[in-house]
Amino acid sequence: MEFSSRLGKLKPYPFVEISRIIAAKRAAGADVVTFGIGDPDIPTPQPIIDRLLQASQDPPNHRYPETDGLPEMRRAMAHWYENRFGVSLNPDTEVLPLIGAKEGIGHVAFCFLDPGDIALIPDPAYPVYEVGTMFAGAESHVMPLRESNGWLPELDAIPSEVARAAKVMWLNYPNNPTSAVASQEDFASAIAYCREHDIALLHDAAYSEVGYDGYRASSFLEVDGAREIGLEFHSLSKSYNMTGWRIGMAVGNADMVKALFQIKANLDSGIPQAIQEMAMEALTGPQDCVQDNITIYQRRRDRVILALQRMGLQVEVPRSSLYIWPRVPEGFTSAEFAARLLEDIDIVVTPGSSYGQYGEGYIRLSLTTPDEQVEKGCQRLESWTIPSPQGG
Ligand SMILES: Cc1ncc(COP(=O)(O)O)c(C=O)c1O
Repeated sequence: MEFSSRLGKLKPYPFVEISRIIAAKRAAGADVVTFGIGDPDIPTPQPIIDRLLQASQDPPNHRYPETDGLPEMRRAMAHWYENRFGVSLNPDTEVLPLIGAKEGIGHVAFCFLDPGDIALIPDPAYPVYEVGTMFAGAESHVMPLRESNGWLPELDAIPSEVARAAKVMWLNYPNNPTSAVASQEDFASAIAYCREHDIALLHDAAYSEVGYDGYRASSFLEVDGAREIGLEFHSLSKSYNMTGWRIGMAVGNADMVKALFQIKANLDSGIPQAIQEMAMEALTGPQDCVQDNITIYQRRRDRVILALQRMGLQVEVPRSSLYIWPRVPEGFTSAEFAARLLEDIDIVVTPGSSYGQYGEGYIRLSLTTPDEQVEKGCQRLESWTIPSPQGG
């Protein structure tokens, strides 16, 4: 039996490897504190669960769903969008439910990319942009994100022949892993660039609802021209603690929505309808749970920042997302520093290099860790003496 060459090109998905290490450490009796994956530890709000219990009793919900979901759910998505961003969307042509944002982000590559085409991919980044590109047989051109540029791509640095050949550009703000945010002016520059070069602009806004100190992210569809060339991906995972239920959406340009629908209609059979009902409850019900989450994450953010500062690490205080992105001390690679934390004090963090070569020099800490674990982890960090890079 011979496997495809694309399978051979896949690196291990970072969190599969990290989960394996944690399981092995715990099996050996270690008291591991993990700041690894961004997966809310807080349960899904009760009214959303109650809706699932009710919806699960309804026989029509036991059958195949439609790929584009229940019309009333698309309307709930459009309603949420209008309330949240002041952008009105046609629920039948500009909204497409997804089995989580990840699913749509992976599949959308098939809409725009043929073998040999180019996709402009930020680095560091959520790995799925690059993997989807590779699955479609296309090439990634890396747009380095650097601290000195606020973790935004330098569009002028993209060679003109690459810009001419590129079919797709990915952006992600609030950003994973750097937690950087983008302004409407930043979006406007990317939109102008993509319109000039006839590039589809794909914006992953999975963390739009997690903002601190009053920060509220914009949708890039608030900016003129975005709807001509753009699709924005949203997720209910982080906003409503629904990672396990798998639901998100793509919204924007009607032709792009239709293209993604066509791909999906041939590959999946939509989102279980009882879960669509949960999403309706989440999007149209009281929104206090979103602010309650933020209050918890902000408290954890402040505690972790304090611990990192006490350790002497250089770190920005994030305004959004679930992540903290400190620099590693001089002389360590990010993987070496993450390995030392795990070996010496049983703390799991993600090396920045897992998100691409420009993530080197940083580590990512997720705030989706229960409060008492955060406190325990912070105390360990504060009382740890950072070893010399060579060794010990
Ligand atoms: C940047 C980014 N986009 C998308 C996702 C996936 O979201 P979902 O759970 O809706 O698939 C994640 C999950 O961690 C993410 O970090």
